[in-house]
Amino acid sequence: AIIHRQDYSPPDWFVPEISLDFTLDPASTQVRATLSVTRNGAHERPLILDGDGLSPMEVQVDGRLLQGGEWMMKGDALVIPLPGDAHQIETLVELAPENNSKLMGLYASGGLLCTQCEAEGFRRITFFPDRPDILSRYSVCMEADQTRYPILLSNGDPVEQGSLPNGRHWARWNDPFPKPCYLFALVAGDLSCKADSFVTMSGRTVRLGIWVKEGDLPRTDHAMQALKNSMAWDERVYGREYDLDVFNIVAVADFNFGAMENKGLNIFNSRYILADPETATDIDYDGVEAVVAHEYFHNWSGNRVTCRDWFQLSLKEGFTVFRDQNFSADMGSHAVKRIEDVRVLRAAQFQEDSGPLAHPVRPESYIEISNFYTATIYNKGAELIRMIALMLGPDRFRAGSDLYFDRHDGQAATCEDFVKAMEEGGGIDLRQFRRWYEQAGTPHVRATLRHDPAAQTVELLLEQSIPPTPGQPDKQPMAIPLRTALFDRAVGRHRGETLLMLTQAQQSFTFSGFADAPILSINRGFSAPVIVEADRSQTELAFLSAHDDDPFARYEAMQQLMVNVLVGRVAGQNIDEGAVVAAIRDTATDPKLDPAFIAEAIRLPSEAYLGDQMAQVDPDAIHAARDALQQRIGQQLEPLWRDIHANMKANGFSLSPAAKGARKLRNIALLYLVASGTDDGPTMAFSQFDEADNMTERQSALATLANNISNEREAALDIFYNRYRSDALTLDKWFQTQAFASHPDTVDLVEELARHPDFTLSNPNRVRSLFGAFAGNQWAFHHKSGKGYRMVADCIIALDKINPQTAARLAPPLGRWRRFDEGRAVLMRAELQRILAEPGLSKDVAEQVGKSLN
Ligand code: ARG
Ligand code: ZN
Repeated sequence: AIIHRQDYSPPDWFVPEISLDFTLDPASTQVRATLSVTRNGAHERPLILDGDGLSPMEVQVDGRLLQGGEWMMKGDALVIPLPGDAHQIETLVELAPENNSKLMGLYASGGLLCTQCEAEGFRRITFFPDRPDILSRYSVCMEADQTRYPILLSNGDPVEQGSLPNGRHWARWNDPFPKPCYLFALVAGDLSCKADSFVTMSGRTVRLGIWVKEGDLPRTDHAMQALKNSMAWDERVYGREYDLDVFNIVAVADFNFGAMENKGLNIFNSRYILADPETATDIDYDGVEAVVAHEYFHNWSGNRVTCRDWFQLSLKEGFTVFRDQNFSADMGSHAVKRIEDVRVLRAAQFQEDSGPLAHPVRPESYIEISNFYTATIYNKGAELIRMIALMLGPDRFRAGSDLYFDRHDGQAATCEDFVKAMEEGGGIDLRQFRRWYEQAGTPHVRATLRHDPAAQTVELLLEQSIPPTPGQPDKQPMAIPLRTALFDRAVGRHRGETLLMLTQAQQSFTFSGFADAPILSINRGFSAPVIVEADRSQTELAFLSAHDDDPFARYEAMQQLMVNVLVGRVAGQNIDEGAVVAAIRDTATDPKLDPAFIAEAIRLPSEAYLGDQMAQVDPDAIHAARDALQQRIGQQLEPLWRDIHANMKANGFSLSPAAKGARKLRNIALLYLVASGTDDGPTMAFSQFDEADNMTERQSALATLANNISNEREAALDIFYNRYRSDALTLDKWFQTQAFASHPDTVDLVEELARHPDFTLSNPNRVRSLFGAFAGNQWAFHHKSGKGYRMVADCIIALDKINPQTAARLAPPLGRWRRFDEGRAVLMRAELQRILAEPGLSKDVAEQVGKSLN
C-alpha cells in the first residue's frame, strides 16, 4: 500500500503512559505491556494497535481478561472496541529474539539482546499505535538470567533492581520524558562500561557510559572524548543542555545502519564506537566522532522535538546532519570537512536525485519508510538548513533555532514548523525557499559572464533549470543563494564576495569598474546544492586553483581542470594535461597550504563522478583515461612524490589534525608513485604496509597494492588476513579493499570472496564491505559481461529472505540503467526483473526494484 503525506490525520487515541515487563530469553521472551489510553476527541472508532508478526496471548481491558470476540486481528493489527474515553489495556506476547534476522525489534547479537525500533520496529515487540506523534512516558522492567545478562539497560534513569530465584535478576528504568515508541530501547548482556562524567552548563553531573564487550574497552577512548566534546558544543553553539542523569551508549556488532538515538540509550553499530590506531583509519576515527555527535545531537533535534509523521523525517535528520557537520568542522578543518561533505553529497545524493528513486526532501508518498533513510533526506536536508543559516547569518540563525526548540519542545513537529520558526525568529521570508522541500532533482545553474570594455562593466547571466523527476515533470524556480566573487587577473584578488540570490529562471547581475574581464568564482563554499555550468577556460581554472581564497572554490577549480581533461579524452579529444600537472605541482609545493587540503585538491575525481559528468557513462573508457592520467602525473612528478612520501613520514603516532593531514598526503604520494609504474613502487607500498604503526597507512598501502597484479599484493593480503581474521571490523576492511580495487579481475575475486568462509549474509557490515563496496566500484560492477549485476542481484535475493532492509539498500546501483549503453542497460533491467519475479519478495526490495524499472 502507498502511504501519502496528505492523508495524515491526528491519532484516534493517545497513550500517555506505558509500562513494559520483559521476561528475557533468546529463544522465548515474554512482553507484557500496560497502556493507559485516552480517546482523542469525539469519535467512536476502536483502538487499533499495530503489530508485526505478533499474536496476543492475552488481552485485558481495565483488569478484565477479554474473551475471543471482544478483540480481533485486522491483518497484523489488534483491534479493540472500547466504550469509554480512558482505559488500561494490557497485552501479552511472546518473541524469539534469536530468530530475528531482520535486526528490527528485539534481536540477539553476539550474546546480547538489543532493540532497534526506528522507524517501525516497536510493533515487532508489542502491540502499540506505532507512529511518532504518540508520546508516552515509559516505565520498563527487565528480568533475565543473571550470568548471561548481568547488565540490563533501558531509556531514562535506573530506579530499582533486585535478584530472583533460579539465578535470575531484574531492573526497572523510568524515562520521565514523553517519547515516541521509535525511541524505545533495551539492552541486556555481559557488557563492560567505560565510565566518565560531564558537568552541564547548569552544573548538573551526568554519568556517561559506553558499554562494550570487555576486550573492546581499550577502543572506546575516542568515542568518549567525542561524546564529551559534543555535549559541550551543543551547549556553546545552540544553548542545548542534556536533560537526564545518565547517558549510555552500547556498541553492537549486527546493526542495519550507523546508530540510533534512543532516549538516554544510544545503540551503535560497533564500527562507529570502537577505534584504536592498530585497527581504525583516520576516516574511521572521524566517523566515530561524527556519529557519536550526530546521535547525541538528536537528543534535542529529534527527541525533545520529534517528527509528526515519517514524511517529516528530514526535520530531525537534515538538521542533525547539519549540526554534526559543523561540529566536526569545529573539531578539525572547516575547509577539508566541507570538501568531504560535498564529495559525499555528489556521490550519493546527486546520483539519487537524477535517477528513478529521486524524491523531495519532504516526500509525498512511500511504500516502505525504511527505504527513505536516504542521502536526500539526510544530506540534501542538511544543505537546506545550511542555506537558511547562510541567508540568516549566525546570530539570526541562532534566534530561529532558539524559537524552534522553545516553541516545539515536547512536541511532534513538521518541516513547516521549522521553516516558520526560522522565518519568525530569524526575520526572513522563506516562501519561495520552501520549494526546496517540495521539488526533487538537482538544479542546474548556467553562469555566463559578459564583459563590456567600453562601459567597464560585467554582466553575470544566471539561468536555472531543474530536471524532471518521477511524478514531477515541471518545476518552479528555486531560491538559490550563490556566494560569488570576481577575480582581477592582474592582481590575483577579488574585490569582495557577494551573496547573489537567484530566484528567477533567468536573472542577470551587473558589476561596474572592470576595465578587464574578470574571472568568475561562483558557488563558493558550495553555498547551494546545485550543478554549476560555467564556461571557464583551463587557464582561468588554473588561475583559480592557484589564487582563489575560498578553499572549496580552489579545490573545485582544480577538480574541474581534471574533469575537463578526462571527460574530453573519453570523448576522443586529445586534451593537453599540462595545466593539470602544473596545478598539481604548484598546489603540492605551496608551503602556505594545509597538507590535508593539498591531499584533497590533487586527487583525481572518482570514476563515478566522471561518469556523472557524461551524457552516457562509459565505465571502461573512464577507467582507462583516469588510469592513464594518474600514471602520467605519477611519472612527470615522480621526484615530488618521493619527497612527499619521505617528508610526511611521522615519528610516532598522533591524531592531531596535522598528523592526519600528513598521512593523507603521504598516502596520495604513494598512490601516484605506484601508478607511475616505477620499478620500486610495489616494494615501497609493501614497506609502508609492513612498517606502519597505524591502520591509515597500512590500509592505504594495501589498497594501492590491491589495484595491480604483483607478488607484493598477494603477500600483503595474506598478512592482513592472518593478522586480523579474528577482528570482525578489521576483517571487513580486507573484504572491502578487494571489492573496491581497480583490478581487472575484481569481478571474479568478489565472486570468490562471496564463498569465503568468513563471508556471511547475517552481518550487515560484512555484506556492505563486500557487495556495497563492489557496487560502488564503477569499473568492476559494470563489467560488460553483466556478471557484476548478476552477483549483486543474487545477493539481494538471498539477503531479502534474512534482512530485507539491508537487501533493499543494495538495489539502487542496479536502478541506474538509464545512464548506461543499451547492452548494459538490458542486462541491468534483466536482473531487476529477475529480483521482482522472486516469490515472497519483501516490500522493501519490491519498492526499490519496482520503482527502478519504471
Ligand atoms: N535515526 C537513526 C540516525 O540517523 C537512523 C535510523 C535508521 N532507520 C532505518 N530504518 N533505516 O541516527
Ligand atoms: Zn540521525
